[in-house]
Amino acid sequence: MQSLYCAGIIFLISGSLAEAISVGKASRQLTAWEYSIISVSMTTDNEELAGGETHIDRISRGEYGLSGSLYTNVDVPQDFEVTVTIYRSTDNGDTYKIQPYSLPRQTVYQAMNSFYKNAIMPSVVNCSNLPQFKGTLEFIPATLWTFEKCQVNTDGFPQYMPDGWYKGVIESHGYVNLIWTGVFSVKQRTF
Ligand SMILES: *[C@@H]1O[C@H](CO)[C@@H](O)[C@H](O)[C@H]1NC(C)=O
Repeated sequence: MQSLYCAGIIFLISGSLAEAISVGKASRQLTAWEYSIISVSMTTDNEELAGGETHIDRISRGEYGLSGSLYTNVDVPQDFEVTVTIYRSTDNGDTYKIQPYSLPRQTVYQAMNSFYKNAIMPSVVNCSNLPQFKGTLEFIPATLWTFEKCQVNTDGFPQYMPDGWYKGVIESHGYVNLIWTGVFSVKQRTF
């Protein structure tokens, strides 16, 4: 789950979510839309157990990435769970409606082996020490992860995403309550 944070967004599901949310930047992608980051934040209810921070970093003119850190001071328990909820706003963030595609409550290990592995892991290989694995990730030891100027590619996200602001809320349930929130603006690309 930690890794999920990097993506910010969205994070979502096991396949379907991965096909539903967006967070990527465009040049390499085939999607008809592109996104920009509006804001990101992260909270913990027990910083002795786990926590971190996240912020937006400027890469170059008009290009931004996600930076920050995420740590757990204990090995991640097998029953540690995570949910991802996606909202969309058509009035620049004044009001949000929950979207049908969200990541149902599942263990962090399930989310790491599905959504993270498919949608996020390839994008963070060069900008973070977030896990890179083949096969199944079965154990996450106490670790400090850092990520710097990460941009998530939209490969693996839906071809079509209507314009709007999308808010992704990733929340953990278990030994610590971590909440990661990211707001992204999606616009159709002009060719
Ligand atoms: C990561 O770096 C390698 C080696 O420079 C490069 O081939 C690859 O495309 C990079 N991947 C991403 C997602 O930036």
